[in-house]
Amino acid sequence: MKMPMSTAVKHIFITGANRGIGFQLIKKMLPEFKPEKVFATYRDPEKSKELKDFAAHHPNVQLIQLDIRDFDKYEEVAMVVDAATEGQGLNLLINNAGVTSKVAKITAIRKSELTDNFETNTIAPILLTKALLPLLEKASGLNPDSPVGVGRAAVVNVSSILGSIQGNDQGGMYAYRCSKAALNAATRSMSLDFKKSKIIAVALHPGWVKTDMGGPKAPLTTEEATSGIVTLLKSLGTKHNGQFYQHDGKQLDW
Ligand SMILES: NC(=O)c1ccc[n+]([C@@H]2O[C@H](COP(=O)([O-])OP(=O)(O)OC[C@H]3O[C@@H](n4cnc5c(N)ncnc54)[C@H](OP(=O)(O)O)[C@@H]3O)[C@@H](O)[C@H]2O)c1
Repeated sequence: MKMPMSTAVKHIFITGANRGIGFQLIKKMLPEFKPEKVFATYRDPEKSKELKDFAAHHPNVQLIQLDIRDFDKYEEVAMVVDAATEGQGLNLLINNAGVTSKVAKITAIRKSELTDNFETNTIAPILLTKALLPLLEKASGLNPDSPVGVGRAAVVNVSSILGSIQGNDQGGMYAYRCSKAALNAATRSMSLDFKKSKIIAVALHPGWVKTDMGGPKAPLTTEEATSGIVTLLKSLGTKHNGQFYQHDGKQLDW
């Protein structure tokens, strides 16, 4: 059965939603996608008051407390989402939560910084996608030619231009660069592995954005970056599968 084309994205899951790019993305996606449910994860209630207040005024935003390094909790999260979506599945998974190490030089890097960045930026997006894959599959494949929306699902891995091997002309930043390059590799594998179920997988560089991570010198506000990102998400289709994009829709080199 072919379903009608639609840009409505019914069920969305986003990690690291309490601040920065994640929080602004939710605010932008609600009016654009009119979702029935956005599952928004946060880890620390003290750092999530704004998100909690926002969710209190938006009943379609369902909060889930999750430290994304708590890998053993993923199956329970998948069950919560399955129940809340009444078995209809997820249309969009945005693996947004991320960390960076302040240590740039190889002479100063320690094992703990490398493992911290890899656990959060690479391992968590892979394992969370694995846990939520049955739900993405439920929502995908009915509209194989349509953009993400009714009958089509997508995984968006929030990466960074600093994960581009081709674009690395400055060196350093081992923990962050390597963890995001590995996330890019995982994205390409997902795009090939999910072909049968028509789930789209892309890596996304949100731009250099004024957040706690991006710092005050960043040229883009979260408002500007997420405007572009939502425009890209609205058109996300087969031609984007397995590629690396930045916030304004420009394709990047791996
Ligand atoms: N800002 C930029 O210029 C820029 C550029 C390129 C790529 N990015 C990428 O964009 C994404 C969002 O970054 P941002 O700028 O919005 O950063 P941010 O303001 O520092 O926010 C990071 C988010 O990730 C969450 N997070 C980190 N570790 C977590 C964990 N173990 N469990 C659960 N949540 C965790 C944080 O939650 P807490 O509040 O609990 O810490 C927070 O919600 C990241 O993947 C980042 O690498 C950002």
